[in-house]
Amino acid sequence: MYAAVSLFVLICLTASTHAEQHSCHPPNMTGIMSVLSMKGDVKTYGTFVYDSMGKKLRFRSNETTPTTFNTSLSLDLLVFFEEEILYEIDSKNQSCEKKALHSTMNSLDIPDDAKFLTTVHAGSASVEGEGIKINVWVGTETGTKGFYSMSETMGCLPFSTFYFSGSTTLLFSHLDIETEIKDPDLLMIPSFCQGLPVEETPEGTVNSFFNEFM
Ligand SMILES: *[C@@H]1O[C@H](CO)[C@@H](O)[C@H](O)[C@H]1NC(C)=O
Ligand SMILES: *[C@@H]1O[C@H](CO)[C@@H](O)[C@H](O)[C@H]1NC(C)=O
Ligand SMILES: *[C@@H]1O[C@H](CO)[C@@H](O)[C@H](O)[C@H]1NC(C)=O
Ligand SMILES: *[C@@H]1O[C@H](CO)[C@@H](O)[C@H](O)[C@H]1NC(C)=O
Repeated sequence: MYAAVSLFVLICLTASTHAEQHSCHPPNMTGIMSVLSMKGDVKTYGTFVYDSMGKKLRFRSNETTPTTFNTSLSLDLLVFFEEEILYEIDSKNQSCEKKALHSTMNSLDIPDDAKFLTTVHAGSASVEGEGIKINVWVGTETGTKGFYSMSETMGCLPFSTFYFSGSTTLLFSHLDIETEIKDPDLLMIPSFCQGLPVEETPEGTVNSFFNEFM
């Protein structure tokens, strides 16, 4: 964990001027996401599905694997970024909360206004097959004022995202990505969630993808 933070700091310190870069958007994806807090605990671990054109995301934490992780958050989220709606789903209970979303940011897609920081090689640049070249982007989330640093592969697949807000730092890692949506039904609103009214947001609360993991 400290190595990751050190790497991040190093990246910041060594960031120099680079040619103009434009952020890209990932393709449709299915993969695994793990979220670690910098206090050292694994917050959650599970599968995600992302529709890049429709800007829809499903994340379901997986309590059954791997058992060595002691996750603290059990989540099932369905997010419609364009419509600015977030569902917190409880499949066991067949219940659902529908919330207004206040930020379109997430760990998978670099915002258009992100600032390009640098390109680095994780692993080795000189040994064939032992390294990965990643672009690093930084920015601030409007609304929550959270600071982020996102890295992506050259093919625009999300690699890792640091999110800093107040005293909390979260590290999102994206693993085993496949560039297709294997189960499109996961992006459909479950029948028991349909027709729900949008819940009122308490004063001072910001509903965002990142805040779901705080
Ligand atoms: C959890 O992981 C197991 C083993 O990889 C898999 O069979 C199961 O479908 C997963 N559950 C969810 C909800 O993703
Ligand atoms: C997992 O969490 C429980 C309850 O918080 C704790 O008692 C246990 O020691 C933890 N196990 C590991 C391997 O961290
Ligand atoms: C089921 O949902 C209700 C609210 O609709 C909640 O109060 C209750 O805690 C939930 N039960 C479980 C087991 O999650
Ligand atoms: C991405 O997934 C959505 C939902 O399944 C689908 O409608 C769309 O055609 C897919 N886009 C591509 C480029 O495959």
